[in-house]
Amino acid sequence: MDSIRITGGKRLEGKIPISGAKNSALTLLPCALLTDEKLTLANLPRLADVDSFGHLLNGLGVSTSVAGVKKGEVGRKMTLQASEIASTVAPYDMVRKMRASILVLGPMLARAGESTVSLPGGCAIGDRPIDLHLKALECMGAEIEIAAGYVKATAPKGRLPGGDFSFPVVSVGATENALMAAVLTTGRTQLFNAAREPEIVDLCNLLVAMGAKIEGIGSSHLIIDGVEGLHGCEYEVMPDRIEAGSYACAAGITGGSIELVGVRPHEMLATTNALAAAGLAIEFTDGGMKVTAHQPLRPLAISTAPYPGFATDMQAQIMAMLLVAEGQSFLEETIFENRYMHVPELRRMGADIEVHGRSAIVKGGNPLTGAQVMATDLRASMSLILAGLAAEGETEVLRVYHLDRGYERLEEKLSAVGATIERVSAG
Ligand code: UD1
Repeated sequence: MDSIRITGGKRLEGKIPISGAKNSALTLLPCALLTDEKLTLANLPRLADVDSFGHLLNGLGVSTSVAGVKKGEVGRKMTLQASEIASTVAPYDMVRKMRASILVLGPMLARAGESTVSLPGGCAIGDRPIDLHLKALECMGAEIEIAAGYVKATAPKGRLPGGDFSFPVVSVGATENALMAAVLTTGRTQLFNAAREPEIVDLCNLLVAMGAKIEGIGSSHLIIDGVEGLHGCEYEVMPDRIEAGSYACAAGITGGSIELVGVRPHEMLATTNALAAAGLAIEFTDGGMKVTAHQPLRPLAISTAPYPGFATDMQAQIMAMLLVAEGQSFLEETIFENRYMHVPELRRMGADIEVHGRSAIVKGGNPLTGAQVMATDLRASMSLILAGLAAEGETEVLRVYHLDRGYERLEEKLSAVGATIERVSAG
């Protein structure tokens, strides 16, 4: 298995191009199921999860073709076409590899009148149930059956009538599934307490470009009037605000200055506010945003929350950055239980962090030293990369496949701003 080797202590300076958003890509791709016409998605990140989603869609009868990537181009363009739905079953083998596979449930049900998806099961950052996905679809008229590890959703009359659902907890994935099912219903659907993440707005914008009728985009009250059919279109995936935030933390932890090219600063205000509160200078540029650290950083108190709050997907990276702050920081994780699995590995590098349930106290200022480390999820792995950039000596981050799921050309992007980092192939 490959690993990433870093020699820490370099101040990072330069520009990093931000890729298309992984979490947006994973909800835009299943929209291909909603029409028999061609859907072309541009600025797709080149990530393992995007490839896996393509394979999952291929198995359902969706053809995919990728346009040649021109030299210097970051993203890629994929054209998808579901002329017919060949199978309405997303098998265990696919769902096991990638939880986001559950996002075919809603659109496949809307298009084919039925949809069977393997239950995702547990995952490294907590239980992550799908009850809200199912309840929302039920309120829109779906019949749900669970048997032999699979969930089967059926529209009794071929198409769902639509209906109202109020989410008791904000869920990004359940909002996405409900939206994709609602656009082809025979009636009106209202979603209350819907997620408002920029990736949801990206999904709504694509659906509208395909002919859907959605009001309240960007708010927690979405009103969807079903239409007879949707058409194809070409659409560009939004920039990845979590990737951008991660590299901003790289500037912070190395006392560096990085311009995040292509980022949309207004979509990551909670992160930029936190960085500014830690003492980083934020400058909006023509190309995006420049983040410059004047160490020592100040400690922070942060609680994760649904958008527009501080993203849980940034918690591990900001924690790593706060290891170089002067004083004690307090973090609270409110979205997922069990999302501090990077802590024992960071401790092995010299970090002083206490965890009490969902809270963590980060005592900044302890010198970090390189070590062999590994993490069990994507963002946790990134926190180890960040710590490695600041640590004295060599750090080797194992289980690189987690990083390949969410960071396009990580080592190339970091080398370009002065990091000593390389991928070591296990052969
Ligand atoms: C998405 C993101 C993930 C991010 C998370 C929260 C993708 C592919 N993944 O995950 O990177 O960390 O949003 O911003 O976009 N819940 C239920 N029942 C459900 C669904 C969720 O109880 O049916 C709970 C979860 O356990 C969690 C909370 O709701 O505590 C939020 O989860 P959710 O927003 O659904 O996360 P995902 O869509 O899985």
